[in-house]
Amino acid sequence: MSTADALTAALASAQWISPYEPVPHPAGQRPAHELAGRFHWDGAAPETGADAGAEAVVYATAHGVYELFVNGVRVGDEELSPGFSSYRSRLQVQRWEITALLQPGENSVTVLLSDGWFRGRHGFVRRADGFGTDTAFLAAVLLEPSTGAARPLLATGAHWESRPSHITRADLMDGQRIDLRLEGPDAPGRPQGAVLSTDPLCDDRTRLVPAEAPAVRRIQELSPTQISTPGEGITVVDFGQNINGWVRLHELGPAGTRTVLRHGEALDDAGLLLVENIRAFDFATRAVLPAGQVDEVISAGRAGDMFEPRHTTHGFRYVQIEGAAGPIGMGDILAIVVHSELARTGTFTASDPLLNTLHDVVDWSFRGNACAVPTDCPQRERSGFTGDWQVFADTAALLYDVAAFSESWSTDLAADQWADGRVPTVVPNPAGNRPSGSAFEDMAAGSAGWGDAAVLVPWSMWRAYGDRVALARALPSMRVWVEYAARSAAAGRHPDRAAERPLERPHERYLWDTGFHFGEWLEPDTPPAPDPTVDHGIVATAFLHRSAHTLALAEAAVGRPADAEHYSRLAENVRAAWCAEYLAADNTLSEESQGHYVRALAFGLVPEERRQAVADRLAALIRENGTRLGTGFLATGLLLPTLADAGHLDLAYELLFARDIPSWLGMIDHGATTMWEWWDGVTPSGVRGSLNHYSKGAVASFLYTHVAGIRLAENPEPGAEAYGTVVIAPQPGGGLSSAAASVHTRRGTIGAEWRIEGGTFRLTATIPAGVTAEVRLPDGSRVSGVGGGTHSYTVAAAGR
Ligand code: BGC
Repeated sequence: MSTADALTAALASAQWISPYEPVPHPAGQRPAHELAGRFHWDGAAPETGADAGAEAVVYATAHGVYELFVNGVRVGDEELSPGFSSYRSRLQVQRWEITALLQPGENSVTVLLSDGWFRGRHGFVRRADGFGTDTAFLAAVLLEPSTGAARPLLATGAHWESRPSHITRADLMDGQRIDLRLEGPDAPGRPQGAVLSTDPLCDDRTRLVPAEAPAVRRIQELSPTQISTPGEGITVVDFGQNINGWVRLHELGPAGTRTVLRHGEALDDAGLLLVENIRAFDFATRAVLPAGQVDEVISAGRAGDMFEPRHTTHGFRYVQIEGAAGPIGMGDILAIVVHSELARTGTFTASDPLLNTLHDVVDWSFRGNACAVPTDCPQRERSGFTGDWQVFADTAALLYDVAAFSESWSTDLAADQWADGRVPTVVPNPAGNRPSGSAFEDMAAGSAGWGDAAVLVPWSMWRAYGDRVALARALPSMRVWVEYAARSAAAGRHPDRAAERPLERPHERYLWDTGFHFGEWLEPDTPPAPDPTVDHGIVATAFLHRSAHTLALAEAAVGRPADAEHYSRLAENVRAAWCAEYLAADNTLSEESQGHYVRALAFGLVPEERRQAVADRLAALIRENGTRLGTGFLATGLLLPTLADAGHLDLAYELLFARDIPSWLGMIDHGATTMWEWWDGVTPSGVRGSLNHYSKGAVASFLYTHVAGIRLAENPEPGAEAYGTVVIAPQPGGGLSSAAASVHTRRGTIGAEWRIEGGTFRLTATIPAGVTAEVRLPDGSRVSGVGGGTHSYTVAAAGR
């Protein structure tokens, strides 16, 4: 039996049940409900001696977020179960081991069920009821002997009870309210019968899958770094770090004390919480939505009680507390860092501590945005924006083992892809694989650079982890995306181009200059202004080339040479068209922006013999801009590697170490503990945009690939993907005297460590057995065929 079949069998007698909820509260105000079932277990009775050695397990899942308790004890240490997936096509089922919690005789199973992602608010416009209007729960308790059939003990059904819980409001964005007076057996409100769910989605059990994405857990606790009282009855706690998670608060005061906790990323001049920057903006209606992230606890006056919300999460560094009974001391409150549990794979250090801080800040940004799915930001939208993961996936795969995390998300992307190949801008998408009805969201589906996540993300994972099955599984989705983009290119011409040049030139059938695209997005001094009338052909055509080329490589990797040939021809036609349209004879681009030049080089759009001239123009543009970067979302992560690879290493280091805005270290100088969404997120005139968006943190891969110098080989031989061949190519500069990185790969840990002392550059490379390295030294010498072991190299240091 496959694991999926085993799940279906285990849950065969379970029925989906919903809380008794005659009049649902408005979105954001809905309580968590308690559902309870009971069963008798004859434990040690002789006739059940057969149970000896059996495991008692619960299979459970929900439409909403659930916490499971057996005999009053919380089961497991996972948070926000069942996680976030494209619920219309894939719903993860957890298997909980509960043997130690059972007692002979009566046993109870209770569940706290809240809206979660299924019915709660999240996304661009914080829409509720995305996947349905009812929460629901499905579970079965079984005794699983080591051999033979499982014995059912309990399954969800109409005999379960339902009542509102002490969590009187729970929403992932808005926050959670707990009335501790209502907790426990004395809770008011008579239990009612649970309701058998009528949502047709419940009938589809083919959606049930074992938990595939790594579980979300409480990963770390942070003590306050500062507590202040900027106003009467107002306490502001600074945790010194922007995180995703929640707080744990002790000392809740006498019964009835109502403490309100507001979460945010910044303070105003008076030291009060500032949330303007995390209020979502609805592009369609121009409405600015409330910030949310407000928790509330009402004390029962019991000694030892504490507050810890587990049906919401927040993006925050500061908590503003109002209504507390007494002063809040350092020992009364902790921040709990919550995210998907991922194994750490990458380490980096350099002689300049600023780079170590940058690495940490990017790491924290990823940790803040790896909650069940890769998100854009943890406070304002909490959505799986395709473009954000597209630009960051390579970097994430250096920092952590994100294979299962990303594959789970890519599976959802494929499921949510429209029949015509378009990819919605956020995945998992509440509307599933069809338009949502929101004009803006539906227009934005299919934007270049965002939709290309369909191709570029599985390819990133293949390069890092070499899972052929995962790559093959992603291929259909990769193909339909490229076909969509190619069809769109062939089908239309941008009205401006048509007006200027009535006669279509042959290459134009490969120009993708129609449809809505975000474009480079959020370049310095360019506020977000999505505009469907703008011609973003220079960006979209570049991505069409990139994805067609990548797809050709993927087809070749899974042994489909004819398809590889087909897509490589398409890629070449698109490349030629891009050059014909956008690259002038003097090697300048028709639109002189840094991002376009970066793509021209990084995506291999420019013919070899013209590359240097184009790279020099990029360098000149940066110099003309006062040696300031000018890239946005899509090109920022590619900027430094592109410069370094094109003979402008010094400039790459100048940008890396730049301190004014826009720059990465400039953010840190202005107090960033995570990467900002806008280059000028914090300026003397205020705070703008999210302060926790990892996209611009894609620069961290440069620290590994160029500063320390651990790189995946560009075109490895079959079988040598996933670091089977590795390039060790440190490129010292920027005044650094040493740097070291290691990456734990599927083949072992690869290390590169260098030091400059007395005019000598010394490199130590650690190569796992079975891996072949090419070592490229800063003096230009190369050593090929380096095998497993620790190898040292010494050359004269260049005068940097
Ligand atoms: C999100 C992004 C996203 C962009 C374009 C923003 O609101 O925060 O990270 O990629 O919209 O869709």
